[in-house]
Amino acid sequence: MNSQIEHKPVMLNEMLDWLAPKEGGIYVDGTFGAGGYSRAILKTANCKVYAIDRDPSTKRFAELLEKEFPNRFVWILGNFADMCELLASHGVNNVDGIVLDLGVSSMQLDIAERGFSFRNDGALDMRMSSEGISAADVIASAGIDELADIFYYYGEEKAARRVARAIDVARKTQPITRTLQLAEIIRGAIPSKQGKTHPATRSFQGLRIYINQEFDAIESALFAAEKLLGASGKLIVVSFHSLEDRIVKRFTHSRCGKLGEHSRHVPELRDKFRKNAVNAPSFFLPKPEKRTANEKELKINPRARSATMRMITRGGVLQ
Ligand SMILES: C[S@@+](CC[C@H](N)C(=O)[O-])C[C@H]1O[C@@H](n2cnc3c(N)ncnc32)[C@H](O)[C@@H]1O
Repeated sequence: MNSQIEHKPVMLNEMLDWLAPKEGGIYVDGTFGAGGYSRAILKTANCKVYAIDRDPSTKRFAELLEKEFPNRFVWILGNFADMCELLASHGVNNVDGIVLDLGVSSMQLDIAERGFSFRNDGALDMRMSSEGISAADVIASAGIDELADIFYYYGEEKAARRVARAIDVARKTQPITRTLQLAEIIRGAIPSKQGKTHPATRSFQGLRIYINQEFDAIESALFAAEKLLGASGKLIVVSFHSLEDRIVKRFTHSRCGKLGEHSRHVPELRDKFRKNAVNAPSFFLPKPEKRTANEKELKINPRARSATMRMITRGGVLQ
């Protein structure tokens, strides 16, 4: 692995400002990555951080923090969807704050062989945990309708059906196993307009979200956060595209007594969140209810451009 590639945390100051870590507090960093958030929390107060990541390659960053903050940092390999069980295995069932910095890290994106990028040639993999079905498996075996749904619902690709058909034609002559091979097939199906984003951007996003079941994991993590956070506990979620943010917004609104409009992409979510609201409203919504990166950060960190941070505070504890 190329150790030169480091992840630059997005909206770090805003996250710290809102989390306000306290002495003796217990915090969960559900998306450890290179540990930028965890380190900042541990440096701010004499507290403890439990960090979760589903990607085993993040262990090397965890080892650095274990040395830097002995007895105050615990790294757990797993899916943040299973946060309650993962923390329970360490004897923890009540925490002061949870942060989720969604999506992929720069390390995952920039290492070609992980298969996340349509700009560098690598195996068509895309599995954050390196387990389960790969993107190549799905491209080889899914039917045209299923592929079109993946690109349309998870990637918001309007030409989803055209892309799915082009893939179906191409895979009949040769297996599709490389990222650039797939990117070129997509480019052939939807030629780019000059100056616009790469034509494969949305389809790759859709495939990645599907492979990693990202939306299901976010929903489960939000329910888990509700159980784990003690009174006045903070939940912070940074998302990178509108579909993710919509799930978080739906949850925060449903838990703060404010139910938003129906979503055409995730129509079942409102009812699901409503049904699971045992004792709503269980959180307080701050004003403003979301933040974006400041001008200074936008100049130095391109990832910050699409970041939206939502934060809520736990009210009374559920029965
Ligand atoms: C944007 S990076 C986080 C960067 C981190 N805040 C930092 O400062 O370095 C997202 C990380 O979350 C992890 N991740 C994404 N979905 C996950 C899930 N469902 N469970 C656990 N980890 C997940 C990814 O493997 C990746 O390492």
